[in-house]
Amino acid sequence: MVELTDGTQQPIDYSQRIPNNVDLSNDRALQRALERWQPAFLNWWNETGPAHSAALQVYLRTAVSVDRDGWANFGYVRMPEYRWGIFLTPRDENRKVSFGDHQSQPAWQEIPGEYRSTLRRIIVTQGDTEPASVEQQRLLGATCPSLYDLRNLFQVNVEEGRHLWAMVYLLHRYFGRDGREEAEALLERRSGDPNNPRILTAFNEKTSNWLAFFMFTFFTDRDGKFQLAALAESGFDPLARTTKFMLTEEAHHMFVGESGVARALQRTCEVMRERHLTDPAQVRGQGVIDLETLQRFVNFHYSVTLDLFGSEISSNAASYYTGGLKGRYEETKIGGDHSLNSDFYTVQEVAEGVIASRSVPALTALNVRLRDDYTGEIQAGLDRWNRIPERFGIPFRLTLPHVGFHRKIGAFAGHYVSPDGQLLTKTEWEGRSVDWLPSDDDHEFVGSLMGRTIEPGKFANWIAPPARGINNLPVEFEYVRFD
Ligand SMILES: [Fe+2]
Ligand SMILES: [Fe+2]
Repeated sequence: MVELTDGTQQPIDYSQRIPNNVDLSNDRALQRALERWQPAFLNWWNETGPAHSAALQVYLRTAVSVDRDGWANFGYVRMPEYRWGIFLTPRDENRKVSFGDHQSQPAWQEIPGEYRSTLRRIIVTQGDTEPASVEQQRLLGATCPSLYDLRNLFQVNVEEGRHLWAMVYLLHRYFGRDGREEAEALLERRSGDPNNPRILTAFNEKTSNWLAFFMFTFFTDRDGKFQLAALAESGFDPLARTTKFMLTEEAHHMFVGESGVARALQRTCEVMRERHLTDPAQVRGQGVIDLETLQRFVNFHYSVTLDLFGSEISSNAASYYTGGLKGRYEETKIGGDHSLNSDFYTVQEVAEGVIASRSVPALTALNVRLRDDYTGEIQAGLDRWNRIPERFGIPFRLTLPHVGFHRKIGAFAGHYVSPDGQLLTKTEWEGRSVDWLPSDDDHEFVGSLMGRTIEPGKFANWIAPPARGINNLPVEFEYVRFD
C-alpha cells in the first residue's frame, strides 16, 4: 500500500499502463498522447539502451511513493518491463515564486505565455541529457567488473530513462503540439551521431570503459544534480515538483560514481603498498590503474563537465532568474533580497594575456555561481578520495585542475591553461597536454583491464569490492540473473 502524506495527493498508480501520481486517467487526451509515445520510448530503449540486456533479471529498486523514503520496492525486474512513469513530489498549495521579478506571487500551475518558449528550451535541454547518457553507456555491460556493478549500471540506466519520462510529461501536458514534437525528437537524436547529435557536447563523448562511467556519474551526473536543483526552485510549479523527485534518484547515481572511483583507487593503493611500487609502468604491470591515469581522467571529466554550466557571463541565465524560471542552488535557503539587482560576483577570465578576476553584476554571473557551488561539492568528494592514499601512506593526492584548463565554452575557450593555472602558448600546450589528459594509450590500457566478471561475489582485479551490498544484501548476492 502506498501511504498518502496529504489527503489531496495522488498515490503512484501502478495499475495504469503508465504509472503516475498525476491523475492521468482523468485527462484522456494527455493519456492517449503519452500512450502513443510509450511504444516509441520502448523502441528507443531496445535499440539504444543496455546491449543484450532484455532477458536479464536485474535486482532493481522502483519508486513506490514520492516520499523521501519511497524507495522500498526492490526486486528482480526484466528491464523492458521496468515501470517507468510520471512522479512529482506533492504540491504545496501555498508555494510562492521565491526570486526574481515575480517574487511572492503564487507559484504558477500553468505556463505564463511570455515564458513558454524559454521554458520549453530549458526542459528540452535537460530532457535531452537523460537518454543521451543511456546511449553513452550502452556497451558497458559487456565488460562489467562484477554483478554488483552491473546492477548499479542498469539502475542508473532505467532511472535516466524515467528522467526522460519526467521531462516528456511536462512537454505533453503543458506545451501542446510543439511539446509533442519535441518529445518525439528526444527519441530521435543520438549521442555521438554527427547528423543528429545530442544537444550538449559532453553527452556526445563516448563512455568507453568503467573508469569513464564512474567518473561520468561522479562529475557529470552531479552537474545534473545542480541543474535540477536550480530548476527545483522554479516558479513554474510542475517543473519544480518534477525535478525535486528526480533529485532523489540522482543521489544514487553520484554514489555509484564516487564509490566506483574510490574502489579503483583503493585497489591501486593496496597493490602499490603490498608490492612496494611507485612507478606507474610497474603499477600498470600489476593490472591496476596507476594514480597518474586516474588524475588524467579527473582532469578530463571535470573540465568537460564545467562546460555544461555555460558561459560565465550570460544574459540568458540573468533572464531565467529575473523571470523566476531557474533559481540559484538552494535559493530558498539563502538570504538577501532574491532579486540580485545590486549584487556583484567575481569571475575569472583572460584579460591582456593574464588570468584575472573581475567583479560583475551577480545577475549575469549565475552560471559561474552554480558552477562554483558544484566545484565545492566536487572538491569535498576529492578530499574523501584522498583519504585512501593517505591511509596507505602513499603521498599522492588527486587535485582539481584550474577552472580554465581544457575549456571549450566561456571565458577560457580558445586559451591554453595548465592544470595549475598558467596561461600557455598553443605550442607549449601541445607539448605538455599529453601528461594532463587521457591519451589513446591510457584508454587502450584501461580498456585492456576491462573483462567481464559475472560470478557472484567476484570482482575484477582492478577494483576493490564495495564495503556493503545493495539494500543490506551481501556483496556476493546474485544482483543479476542470466537465466
Ligand atoms: Fe538524470
Ligand atoms: Fe543521473
